[in-house]
Amino acid sequence: MLFDERPKERKEDLFDREKEVSALVRNIRRPLIVITGVRRIGKTSVLLVGLNEAKENFILIDFRKLKENYGRKDLYSLFSSALSSKLGYLQDVLKKVKGIGIMGNYVEIKWGGRNYLSLTDLFDKLNEKRLIIAMDEAQKLRGPISKEVKEAIAHAYDYDRNLTFILTGSEVGLLHELIDVEIKTLPFSEDTISK
Ligand SMILES: Nc1ncnc2c1ncn2[C@@H]1O[C@H](COP(=O)(O)OP(=O)(O)OP(=O)(O)O)[C@@H](O)[C@H]1O
Ligand SMILES: [Mg+2]
Repeated sequence: MLFDERPKERKEDLFDREKEVSALVRNIRRPLIVITGVRRIGKTSVLLVGLNEAKENFILIDFRKLKENYGRKDLYSLFSSALSSKLGYLQDVLKKVKGIGIMGNYVEIKWGGRNYLSLTDLFDKLNEKRLIIAMDEAQKLRGPISKEVKEAIAHAYDYDRNLTFILTGSEVGLLHELIDVEIKTLPFSEDTISK
């Protein structure tokens, strides 16, 4: 049998985890939710199934795609792709933003130069519409740019009522003081496994 290594996306494919998924759906309007747990435990699966169940508009950024020595350009390119995937919903908001270019189906956020758009400003603009911003593998954010992301989330937490951030990671430290809801993805008990 071929074992599928990828995270599950559909509720039917996810064994157990009803508690975690329903906690995510129930809290989906809170500003900041974190899904924690050790490697390969099912964090991304809980995130994806929860997002599908919540039936709200979301963008998903996988920080695992960042190289070791990533720069602002790499980070912005991830945000740009994520926004491009929701262009139908976000176009009317994005087209008004000076630091954002839309070419066909592709969004480009200016990462430097004259029309540079800070993440804080980006979040303030996105706040015009209800949006969930999911960030998978948030612990991959390190160095000076991670500070920028954290500060932008902290700002959005206070001012951008239409935005919800969902972060997953195996390390909790991130934004600790702001976290509203922590969904712990724990190992199934031996009891559960032996049934
Ligand atoms: N509850 C579950 N039911 C079925 N398969 C699961 C379940 N939880 C995890 N898996 C499977 O285990 C693997 C790891 O899951 P997933 O990628 O969601 O975990 P993760 O915690 O995000 O892992 P990583 O630490 O690599 O990011 C995947 O192949 C996924 O399909
Ligand atoms: Mg994962």
